[in-house]
Amino acid sequence: MNQPVVRLHSLRSVQLGVPDVTACSDFYSEVWGLSVVEKDTDDTWLRGSGPDHHVLQLSRSERNALGRISFAVRTPAEVDEAARRLVAQGVPLLREPGPLDDAGAGYGLVLVDPEGRRIELSCDVHSVTPRSRDLPVPIGVTHVVLNTVDIDRAVAFYTQVLGMRVSDWSEHQMAFLRCNTDHHSIAFNQAAWTSVNHVAYEMVSMDHFMRGIGSLKHHGITPLWGPGRHGPGNNTFSYFADPAGLVCEYTSDVAQVVEDQWLCRVWRRVPELSDLWGTAGPPSTDVRTHMAGVEDLGALADEVVAS
Ligand SMILES: [Fe+2]
Repeated sequence: MNQPVVRLHSLRSVQLGVPDVTACSDFYSEVWGLSVVEKDTDDTWLRGSGPDHHVLQLSRSERNALGRISFAVRTPAEVDEAARRLVAQGVPLLREPGPLDDAGAGYGLVLVDPEGRRIELSCDVHSVTPRSRDLPVPIGVTHVVLNTVDIDRAVAFYTQVLGMRVSDWSEHQMAFLRCNTDHHSIAFNQAAWTSVNHVAYEMVSMDHFMRGIGSLKHHGITPLWGPGRHGPGNNTFSYFADPAGLVCEYTSDVAQVVEDQWLCRVWRRVPELSDLWGTAGPPSTDVRTHMAGVEDLGALADEVVAS
C-alpha cells in the first residue's frame, strides 16, 4: 500500500459558499464572535482569537456549498512532495504547488477528494496577533463534519492518502478522524448526498462555551441542538444555524489523543452516548434537515476535473 502523501499538522480554515455573503458576514462578525480581516466584492475572510490569518472564508455562491477545507502542513518541501505523490496516485490537483494568491498568502496546493471536495494543503500563511482569551469568542475552527455517500471510501482516502487516523466510530454511521492530538478534525457522516454537515468553532473553555451561548441568547438566537456533551470525542456541543441555514457549532474540551495509547471504539448510537449530560435530548428533525443541507458536487461539477 502507498504511504500517505503528507503529514497534516492541523485544520486551518474552511471556505463556505453562500448566496448572501453580507448577511453571513454580519452574523459571524457581530454575533458569532469572529472578526473580518479582509473583504472584496464576493469574499469575506474572518479570523478568530487565535493566530491564524483567517479561519472562515465566505464566498458568493448560487447555493450553499463547501468551498475549500485548508490544512496546515509544515514546509513548502512537504507541499511539493505531497503533489508528487498525489499525482503518482492519480489524485486530481486543482492547483499545482505554488504561492497562494488568496488573502493570507502562503504556499500550497489544492487537491480534489473522491466526492469533489477541495482540500488545500498550505504552509507559510500569514499569522495575526492572538487576541485576549478572556472573551467568549472562538479561537478558530476545530472540526468539520462532512456528509458522505460512501463512508468507507471517504475514510480510506483520508487515512491512506492524507494520513489521518480513525479515533472512533459511531456505529457505521459516523467516523471521527484526527491529524494531531485533537480527537477529530474531520468527521464523516453517512448520508443520502455529499454536503457539509457543520463547522465547529473551538471555545477556550467550558465557561467560554456557556458564555458564548449566553451571548447568542442576548441576540435572540437559541441553539438548534444543545448544549450538551457528546460521547465520541467527549466535546461539548451547541449547534446553531447561520443566516444561510448552514450549521455552526460552539465546542470545547475535545478529547486529546495520545498516539499508541488510544483505542478506537465503536460507539452505539443511543441517546445517553450522543448526549452524555442528558441536557440536549435527541436531535430534532429541524437540526437534521439543516445538517443534511443541499447536495454539493464540489469540483466534480467542474469539467476540468471530470475530464
Ligand atoms: Fe461537531
